[in-house]
Amino acid sequence: MPSLVSHPKSALIGSAQIPGDKSISHRALMLSALAVGKSRISGLLEGEDVLATASAMRLMGATLDQLGDGNWQVQGVGVGGLTTPDDIMDMGNSGTSTRLLMGLIASHDITVTLTGDASLRGRPMRRVTDPLSKMGASFEARDGAYLPLTIKGTSMPLPLDYTPPMASAQVKSALLLAGLNTSGITRVREKTATRDHTERMLSAMGADIHVEDQDDERVISLVGQPELKPITLDVPGDISSSAFLMVAASLVPNSDVMLKRVGMNPLRTGIIGALRAMGADIRLLNERDLGGEPVADIRVCGSQLQAVTSLPVDPSTMIDEFPVLFCAAATAKGTSRFTGLSELRVKESDRLSVMAAGLKANGVDVTEFEDGLEIKGFAGPVPGGGTVETFLDHRIAMAFAVLGQMADAPITIEDASPIQTSFPSFINLMKALGAGLELVDETGTVHKA
Ligand code: S3P
Repeated sequence: MPSLVSHPKSALIGSAQIPGDKSISHRALMLSALAVGKSRISGLLEGEDVLATASAMRLMGATLDQLGDGNWQVQGVGVGGLTTPDDIMDMGNSGTSTRLLMGLIASHDITVTLTGDASLRGRPMRRVTDPLSKMGASFEARDGAYLPLTIKGTSMPLPLDYTPPMASAQVKSALLLAGLNTSGITRVREKTATRDHTERMLSAMGADIHVEDQDDERVISLVGQPELKPITLDVPGDISSSAFLMVAASLVPNSDVMLKRVGMNPLRTGIIGALRAMGADIRLLNERDLGGEPVADIRVCGSQLQAVTSLPVDPSTMIDEFPVLFCAAATAKGTSRFTGLSELRVKESDRLSVMAAGLKANGVDVTEFEDGLEIKGFAGPVPGGGTVETFLDHRIAMAFAVLGQMADAPITIEDASPIQTSFPSFINLMKALGAGLELVDETGTVHKA
């Protein structure tokens, strides 16, 4: 369990290739495993979360070949072709794998037991087990709501018309994936639109799927039991991973960083609007389409950020970017206030309380509410010098690694290993741009990343 020490070193200068989008990578493996024929995927994120999805799909009968350097070949089993695995499936830290796979399993006549690490075992599953039960699947969950959990899918699933009570792409996608092997039309009504990678990919694979904006809801309708065509897909860079470098380059004076080929799905780009509202210098270049998803290169230059009290974007379009935005607010001029964020309490960690604790440990004045934080900015470097507990949350670790670049004394992140779940090359990329980061083992020995 190495810790990570972060401190200012120099301006961040250069360009970086951001690894593949995590959400798209999960969906690419799951859906190509259900296609009829061979799919080719390049640029796949090979972080622990996506590899957990790959292992799960193999255990359920698909053939997935990792060819090296993000290139994969997947031989699908066809919709309805999944088989009962001969072992329990350990999903590690990955909520997306767990919830989406529950959807897939629900409409197959198979029984699967899922577990995960301490973080995942603490995350609520009723949001998917409730609607999937209505389709006919049955669940045996610890305390009725948590992993470990056994799901018994049904051979006669009923199509559902469902409005999730919270904005969640995972819940929506779980229901659409369950709808794939369900005869009739599965409908999900969203009060707030969430990332639509599942819809885009299903459409590209030939499924009969329609998205309509009606009054105050977005209605997604999927006709069940399609024959999915295999895909050839180049996965765009992950905007959520890019956010750490975007904030780092904004905070460190005189920085000039170019991030290449980053996904620009409009339901994911809230962080750009939020940072621009704080005065960040962010330019989009070379905007184009990559296999059904928009992408662009992002140029970010250092600038003094200003506090923000009302974000000009919907929180669901940047739900994973709040930890690093809170760090940006700590260096901004003025007091920022963020509300309407109670979903952050059920992510890989309780991101409101864990961020508040980490910021306080580094000298920042923070007030925590039920659904948000108020953060007094320093109009420059934070005091730093504190140690941050990450609670198995990759985004907490990376957010404080960024803040350490704008701190008077080094910030220590007590466990850097969660970074492997979504952005294994983070430390190397940051160091190559000029960041001061060192991995330190239990004996105090400093390691090259
Ligand atoms: C994801 C959806 C979001 C996000 C997660 C990935 C997805 O979760 O936080 O990192 O790929 O569908 P919720 O659906 O819980 O908001």
